[in-house]
Order: sequence, then structure tokens, then C-alpha cells
Amino acid sequence: MNRHVANMEKGFLMSQAKMEDIISLCKRRGFIYQGSDVYGGLSGTWDYGPLGVQLKRNIMNLWWRMFVDERDDIYGVDAAILMNPKVWKASGHVDTFVDPLCEDTVNHRRYRTDHILKDNGIDADGLTMEQMDELIAEKGIKSPDGNPLSKSRTFNMMFKTSVGATESEDSVAYLRPETAQGIFTNFKNVVDSFYPDLPFGIAQQGKAFRNEIAPRDFVFRSREFEQMEIEYFVNPEKWQEAFDELLKSTHEFLEALGLDPKNIHELDVPPEDRAHYSKKTIDIEYDFPIGKEELMGIAYRTDFDLMNIQRVSGKSMEYTIKGTNEKFVPHVIEPSFGVERALMAVLSSAYREDEQNGSKRVYLALPEHLAPVKFAVSPLLKNKPELVEKAREIYANLSKKNPGRVMWDDNGNIGKRYRRQDEIGTPHCVVIDFQTLEDDTVTVRERDTTEQRRVKVEEL
Ligand code: GAP
Repeated sequence: MNRHVANMEKGFLMSQAKMEDIISLCKRRGFIYQGSDVYGGLSGTWDYGPLGVQLKRNIMNLWWRMFVDERDDIYGVDAAILMNPKVWKASGHVDTFVDPLCEDTVNHRRYRTDHILKDNGIDADGLTMEQMDELIAEKGIKSPDGNPLSKSRTFNMMFKTSVGATESEDSVAYLRPETAQGIFTNFKNVVDSFYPDLPFGIAQQGKAFRNEIAPRDFVFRSREFEQMEIEYFVNPEKWQEAFDELLKSTHEFLEALGLDPKNIHELDVPPEDRAHYSKKTIDIEYDFPIGKEELMGIAYRTDFDLMNIQRVSGKSMEYTIKGTNEKFVPHVIEPSFGVERALMAVLSSAYREDEQNGSKRVYLALPEHLAPVKFAVSPLLKNKPELVEKAREIYANLSKKNPGRVMWDDNGNIGKRYRRQDEIGTPHCVVIDFQTLEDDTVTVRERDTTEQRRVKVEEL
């Protein structure tokens, strides 16, 4: 084996190990559990525990603050998940929201054809289904169980359900596969209520559902996940400047997530790989432990969606420039973020191992504004009522200033408490000891450096 291959394999094994370590930490410490775990799980679904939900909300709230609250050109909405099925006909999802699926001809397990190729070292980006099938035949690629694979067919990824008490063709509805359509269908409502100047955007956060053929890589590819999307409506002549500005704002957001710019890459997606609605797409890829993969994307969706809505609904989607007779259907730039992928990037960038006092330590170097717990408060000894009373008082005051972000921790000895808090990424551990009773100072122990300082209680 040459050195390059050996190093690649070592890198691959190390990153696999890191992924497994992160998954195990998430489960052990109450971040993320397998969905319906107690019944053996449901593939592609994940449940967030107390720390996971806080971390996820911190990421989503940061996004909302940076893209909605701190800007005066972006409006928030929260549309229903169930939508009139015409939405998905008009948007093209009923006909084209498909993945290529092939089947093990012996045990009938199903796979995504491009994933089968990827797992065999072939990048299938840009290939047609027929070209993928040809490659499988040519290279004699078998299923993971060693059996021949069928020819591919398309598989629509939308979950179907039925609305109302009778199930018929007319009652079919879909769980939304993207939050974007809930924005487009509210374009006219927002214009009528607010009449914002162009360019302006509408933002939404919420669940999206895709019946992925092969959910994998932890929360990276799930069947139920969350998106944070903006549809930014522009004069068609000015799409490029809006695109550039939103790309810049995206990088600012990724920086605020604490992600190292050297692990962030822009991919100008070639035409054959873009979604059916896009005239230009930049994917932001991140060096995840599973490899360089898509974190989010920005697409120039032109007037594709508003024109479809206008055609199918018969209602005008034109915007009139204020004080003129100039009317047109705006074009759209769409930054689309997946919450789970942002969360996975944050966790993998924060995961650290080092050695303290001769033993291995695992800690999450989360930025303070994202850490689920900002302060852990402990009495040095839990059997000393005077220490517990003082610690409770400090805990109550800190909790008032940082609602939901302060944890009471009096389990085990101080060393064990520090290790536990390090593992969940708590930046500051506050310890109340006998000196506190004398001079109102506490020990603050910092997660990353493990340094301990004496701090006045009022300065916390
Ligand atoms: N409205 C455009 C849209 O939905 P997309 O590239 O299909 O575009 C946008 O999805 C983002 O949603 C992705 O970049 C990714 O972050 C996230 N995403 C998509 N499918 C996902 C899945 N199965 N599991 C987790 N996140 C997913």
C-alpha cells in the first residue's frame, strides 16, 4: 500500500471514529436520540433531548436574529406544513422531485443508485439514470450484499397523506419537502399587507419531509428535518448583486456559528446538477467527519415559482414599482439552510479530545452564544447546607439573567462535574466554597483552558 493510500485510509478511519464519537456523545449526554428508540427506532428520524433542543434553538434563533430581526428588508412567516396539493403540481415537485432507485434483485433491498456508485468510488454528479446503470453494468457493481442490482427507476420523495375523513384522489396532500413553497404562496399576502420596496425577502423556519431512499450519516440525511429559508425578491436586472450580498451574509452567519473558514468551500454547481428551478447555484460545502458535503445552498430561482403560481392559480404575482406603472413578476434568490447540517457542522467543529492530569478528556468547544448551558453552578460540598444555600442563591440570580442556560450540578466530586460539563460544552463552571461565604467570590473554571479564577459574584 503506498503512503498516500495509507494516509487516506488513516484519515478516513479517524473521521469515521470522530463521527461515531460524536453520535455516542449526543446520545449519552442528551443531545440527540434515534427517533422512536424504545420501539426499535424509525429510520431517518431523530429526537432531540434537552441539550440538543437548546443547541438547535440557539442556532435557529441566531439565524433569525441575523437574517430577520437585524435587517429591515426581510419579513418572517410561519406557513402551514399541509398545503393545497396544487402547490406541488405547480412547483414541479410532483413530476420531478425524484431520486434514482435500484434494487437488490435477490433480497429486494432498495438503494439510491448515485450512493451505490459513490460507495464504489464513482462520483455520479451530473450523470443521467441511464449513464449510472451503464456504469454499474460495466464495472460489475453489486449490491452491498453482493447480489446483482436491477435497472434504476425514479422514486418521488414526497410523503403522501390524506386530508379529511374520506380517502380519495381528491383528499391527497403532501408533507412539504421544502419550506420555500410556504413563502412563495404568501408573496402576494405580504405585498398586500406591507408593500415593501424591492428588493425584499420573506423568511421561514420549519420542518420539511423527504422520503429519502437511504437516510444515512446521522442527522445529515434524515426523512424529517428542519430548514431555514429565505426567498429574496428582486428586480431581474439586479439579481447578481442580491445573490452576492446574500452569499456574503451567509458566510457571516457561518462564522457566527464558529465554523473555521478553511473548512468551508463554495461549489459553483454545474447546470446539469442544479435543481430544475435554478439558473445558478452555489453550494456551501463543509468538511464534515463524513467528508466534504453540502451544508446549504444559494440558488437563483428566477421567476420560476411565482410564474407557476400565477399560471395555476390565475392570480397576478406582479409587483408594481411604487409611484410608477412599471410592473413585473420579481425574480428570486434563495439561501436555503438545513438546521441539522448546521448543527452537525457545529458539533464536529467543536468536538475536541485532549489529556488532562494524565487522562483523556472529551469536550465541546462550542461558542458561548450557542452552548446549551452557559454556566454550571455547584456547591463545593453538597452536604454543607451553608454552601448549598449560597450556591442556590447564585444559581437563581444567574438563571434570571440567562433563562434556561444555567445548570445546577452537585453530582459526584468537582473533577467529575467538570468533565461532565466539558462534554456538553459548558464554557463556565461556577463553584461556591467556604471563601465565598467570607468574601463573596467564587471559582470560575473555564472549559477550554481549564484555568480557574476567583471572580466577584456581582461580576458573573
Ligand atoms: N428550497 C430549496 C431546497 O430545499 P435543497 O438543496 O433540496 O434545496 C436545502 O435543500 C438544504 O436542506 C440542504 O442544503 C440541506 O442543508 C438541507 N437538507 C436537504 N435534504 C435534507 C435531508 N434529507 N436531511 C437533512 N437536511 C437536508
